[in-house]
Amino acid sequence: MFDKKTIRDIDLQGKRVLVRVDFNVPIKNGLVGDDTRIRAALPTLEYLIGHQAILILCSHLGRPDGSPDVKYSLKPVAEHLSQLLSKPVGFADDCIGAITTSKVAALKPGDILVLENTRFHAGETKNDADMARQLAALADIFVNDAFGSAHRAHASTEGVAHFLPAVAGFLMEKEIQYLGDVISAPEKPFVAILGGAKVSDKIGVIRNLSAKADVILIGGGMANTFFKAEGYPVGESLVEDEALDQAREFLKIGKTQIRLPVDVKIADKFAEDAAWKLMPTGPIPNGWMILDIGPETVIAYAKVIKKAKTVIWNGPMGVFEFPEFAKGTFGVAQAIANSQATSIIGGGDSVAAIQQSGLAGKISHISTGGGASLEMLEGLSLPGVTILLDK
Ligand code: 3PG
Repeated sequence: MFDKKTIRDIDLQGKRVLVRVDFNVPIKNGLVGDDTRIRAALPTLEYLIGHQAILILCSHLGRPDGSPDVKYSLKPVAEHLSQLLSKPVGFADDCIGAITTSKVAALKPGDILVLENTRFHAGETKNDADMARQLAALADIFVNDAFGSAHRAHASTEGVAHFLPAVAGFLMEKEIQYLGDVISAPEKPFVAILGGAKVSDKIGVIRNLSAKADVILIGGGMANTFFKAEGYPVGESLVEDEALDQAREFLKIGKTQIRLPVDVKIADKFAEDAAWKLMPTGPIPNGWMILDIGPETVIAYAKVIKKAKTVIWNGPMGVFEFPEFAKGTFGVAQAIANSQATSIIGGGDSVAAIQQSGLAGKISHISTGGGASLEMLEGLSLPGVTILLDK
């Protein structure tokens, strides 16, 4: 259940609406690379336009150091948005200040203005109250639709909401509904699939999910740390020695839930053209490294996934950038796509994998949040959501 007010609950007609979106998208040669996050905001933007609001959009892009840097400009994003909406989209070279204020003053209902990167001001990431006040002064209402940034307590995500009536957009609502339901009341059996390089990134997630999930399937580089914790030599594989104690503890408390790969694909170097072989899980020969889960593991994991009613997946099963070591990741993606379960995928790499596999249409919900979705899976509340008006 989503217990915050949304744009449905507020009068928008003729109002200046500051919309925080997450337009932190890849830019290549001055053009938007992947526009998934921009498209994901369209239902909110179209609703606001349809209700004759005046739209002022703000976002960060990348991690500039608190001063303007053209390589992180949102200008290409504004141009891309104009194409997607088939209507003119204005652009202001700053997100606050006199020029921005006068551009905003000239807007009419249904108009859209994109403001320059909020992180061009050091006050953004410091959640500076003065910056938040200046952003708030541009508008009558604040709408937060930036789920991907909702775990950040920054001036444009949290601070500004102290100074304006603040409600959620449709993307924010949808993300919290899917991820929140998984955390609070997943339909059982509930299977979590966790991969990616590091156990240390997922300690909070494993701890929280071990209290809720029926099975946790582990893959990716983080499995190596679990193997080492079980006492196997892992050759040249990536391992986090500092997370070994934690991995041991998880294996003790999560004995029945946590499943590790039963076979692995090992390589003689970290490269696309590496020599490789399959082997059952066990001591890895010197000079070799694990780069993927093996086919027996895919079969075993697919059996578990088939019985699930809820599946959540975060993190690839291997080095899927190299085609030979992408089979585990794509095998798991296929198993999720085949299942009848409510399926949720979060985190940049697993989202990229499902998109590459062409199976995205078979997934119930693909999150636009990386860090934000992980924090939800950890059971944490997100500051950009907490501050919004309650229903
Ligand atoms: C993301 O890409 O996860 C969000 O846009 C947040 O970006 P950040 O990690 O730089 O705050």
